Amino acid sequence: MTLQTLAAQLEALIGRERDPLPNLANASALIFHSLEGLNWAGFYLYKGGELVLGPFQGKPACVRIALERGVCGAAARQRRTLVVDDVHAFAGHIACDAASKSELVVPLIHDGRLLGVLDVDSPMLARFSQTDVQALQELCRVLVLSCDWPVALSSTGRG
Ligand code: SME
Repeated sequence: MTLQTLAAQLEALIGRERDPLPNLANASALIFHSLEGLNWAGFYLYKGGELVLGPFQGKPACVRIALERGVCGAAARQRRTLVVDDVHAFAGHIACDAASKSELVVPLIHDGRLLGVLDVDSPMLARFSQTDVQALQELCRVLVLSCDWPVALSSTGRG
């Protein structure tokens, strides 16, 4: 599967389903099995002012991440995609899996509201290219628009 078809594949998997839980679960499996050289792919959802572990593929991970912490917190706080070529050079990186060397985090934002982040890790240095960024941003765009997000996920959507 080419990266260009990732979002289209997700659209096909989602169909008419609007529940975020199965759609996030299938999205994490699709990413994990479509991109080479990953050791983790999944979601953290913004709840009560912090990021809480959601559907993922890979080893068990830390459950809660404050917005002040880690690559995930930084991407959520800054509301922009972050690519970290060497996580050990990123101050505050949270090592859920010691094997991780590079990381890509895409915030999930709908109508200005922060819903969570997509986090993808690799045991290779500088694994993620601009092509990966574009493919995963497009996948996140599809995901955000395809689900009915509960209001309770965050009260204000502001970090
Ligand atoms: N490394 C992330 C934490 C999540 S795990 O990688 C799954 C971070 O620094 O935010």
